[in-house]
Amino acid sequence: MNQIANLYFELIDKQRNVYQSATLYKQNRNSVDSYIDVLQCIETGESLEINKGKLTNTSHTKAYKISDNIADFRDQVILKNDKKWSRLNKKFLNYHKSLTSYALMRNLPLTHYVSAQTELANVKGKSIVDVGAGTGQSQCSFFRYPEDNTYFLVDPNIRLLHDQFIRVYPQLLETKMNHILSHAEKLPFKDNSVDIVMSLASIDHFADYKAFIKEAHRVLKKDGKLLIFSHLDVPLGGQILTKLKTLKLSLPVLLEIIARKLFQISKRVSVDDHTLHFHNSRPMEDTMKEVGFKIDKKEEFMRYFYLLGQK
Ligand SMILES: C[S@@+](CC[C@H](N)C(=O)[O-])C[C@H]1O[C@@H](n2cnc3c(N)ncnc32)[C@H](O)[C@@H]1O
Repeated sequence: MNQIANLYFELIDKQRNVYQSATLYKQNRNSVDSYIDVLQCIETGESLEINKGKLTNTSHTKAYKISDNIADFRDQVILKNDKKWSRLNKKFLNYHKSLTSYALMRNLPLTHYVSAQTELANVKGKSIVDVGAGTGQSQCSFFRYPEDNTYFLVDPNIRLLHDQFIRVYPQLLETKMNHILSHAEKLPFKDNSVDIVMSLASIDHFADYKAFIKEAHRVLKKDGKLLIFSHLDVPLGGQILTKLKTLKLSLPVLLEIIARKLFQISKRVSVDDHTLHFHNSRPMEDTMKEVGFKIDKKEEFMRYFYLLGQK
């Protein structure tokens, strides 16, 4: 039996509750040498080569680990010195472990809305750098033709794919992606090298969003696109009121809410693990314009926003 068949056989006919810990799967990763040409040393800007299983810059003054087809560019300075980021990142990783299939179902229409409105859903032949990509499931949830693009998962944390994503998106097993450990604030890509940079629900987890926007501009080709999408911080009272208005209470609904709350309490899922809190998208839009992006499209809707810029 081949590997994909094995994976499906592990899932078929198994009980799968909404509130249970997910089984985690490795991403289907390309080997680093297949995309080394677009990478550069984050310290010196030199090209990279592979020596004894490591990525080294051409002057051999800097080396980056590779394991399991993941290149590791994590900037230790940010990790060590930014206590706030490290503390919130720890909290976030706890949430990652406890991600439920309820969250997947709730988020799908939002993802589909943004990908359709920005017209990025149907792109083909593009190199896409997804910064703060987490599990990399957006390769197949955001894009309709994942096999026709080159997708880079960029994140400082290794986050494996939850079984709910594997169940919903067969292409996650069938299409490869490029997996890189790196911070948004220092991207290991050459200048003018990629078509699309995006940050989906991640900019408010970064240590420095302005540094990310600058980096996005540097690595994008002329006319390349930057998409920033996330939620806005609206007062909690307003959120609860909106939820109550749309909620049709019945016994199953009530039981589900109780099950969800019990799950969150038992897993100690934090309510807020964001480093940044945006009340509107203005600060990001201003920075995009400052570094030279033209705003193609923008929208604030419900408690979300997206900004689409062109270099
Ligand atoms: C809420 S998750 C979003 C994941 C994914 N984009 C999605 O929509 O499913 C936020 C992600 O930002 C990542 N992150 C946190 N700090 C970061 C940084 N400085 N640079 C890049 N990514 C970061 C986290 O590891 C996490 O995977």
